[in-house]
Amino acid sequence: MRTILLLTTLALSLVVSAVPRPQHPGRSPALAIPPRATNIGTGRKNTAPYCGLANVTQPANTLPTPSAGLNLVLIAQGTGTQNYTCANNSATALPVAIGAVATLVNASCAVATGNLGSINEDSQAVGMHFFVDSTTPDFNIIGLGNTELKKLAAVAAPAEADGSVDVPWLKLVAQAAGTTSLVKEVYRLVTKGGTAPVSCAGQAAVVQVKYQAEYWFYASPS
Ligand SMILES: *[C@@H]1O[C@H](CO)[C@@H](O)[C@H](O)[C@H]1NC(C)=O
Ligand SMILES: *[C@@H]1O[C@H](CO)[C@@H](O)[C@H](O)[C@H]1NC(C)=O
Ligand SMILES: *[C@@H]1O[C@H](CO)[C@@H](O)[C@H](O)[C@H]1NC(C)=O
Ligand SMILES: *[C@@H]1O[C@H](CO)[C@@H](O)[C@H](O)[C@H]1NC(C)=O
Repeated sequence: MRTILLLTTLALSLVVSAVPRPQHPGRSPALAIPPRATNIGTGRKNTAPYCGLANVTQPANTLPTPSAGLNLVLIAQGTGTQNYTCANNSATALPVAIGAVATLVNASCAVATGNLGSINEDSQAVGMHFFVDSTTPDFNIIGLGNTELKKLAAVAAPAEADGSVDVPWLKLVAQAAGTTSLVKEVYRLVTKGGTAPVSCAGQAAVVQVKYQAEYWFYASPS
């Protein structure tokens, strides 16, 4: 009898003492943590995509190939506008390119793993693309530094199924002036949109045409 009473009291006191912390229903954190940590480690090892760029090659194009000794260090997706000026709004005036402004997001992993759908335009920008003057594109990228370039070569973008025309694919080469990064060459590939209207008829003085492109950055090791 006494034993039963004692056990009942003990059981009650255990129930009572358990009440203030119902978040931990009978599980010891000391026991719960190690298996959890092990599971995370194993899961990451087995499922993380390999995002290295060492063997990633450009989509087929006829631009001059990257120079020997350079490494592909970043593929960024740019989203912004190609800008043009119009002298007036008549059909005899043609739009003149004055540069582009685009936000750059890190697409290295998405391209390396062939998972382009995972590129999120809303993700944190890694840098900006703009023009110093109408012939000097600039890329300012966190962790890489600033690069000012000149256009070396251009080829027409592949035809779109719907007949629309995208801005050309380009090879740009870095110039010493204004460059703080190790980036030596930048390719603009996989363009979408950005092409000027055929004439200035009905256009404003500055025409901004939305575009997207992949920018491939090649840098020297040091
Ligand atoms: C890249 O390709 C080379 C040559 O085919 C190969 O030896 C190397 O393991 C590859 N590297 C990676 C990270 O896939
Ligand atoms: C080009 O267009 C962007 C908007 O995308 C604007 O911020 C920028 O000032 C324009 N640049 C010029 C030179 O008009
Ligand atoms: C519009 O600009 C074009 C190109 O500069 C010029 O040839 C044309 O005479 C201009 N037209 C008008 C109406 O000002
Ligand atoms: C881009 O993302 C990769 C991982 O996919 C990372 O290793 C690299 O440092 C990033 N580059 C920049 C410039 O943020």
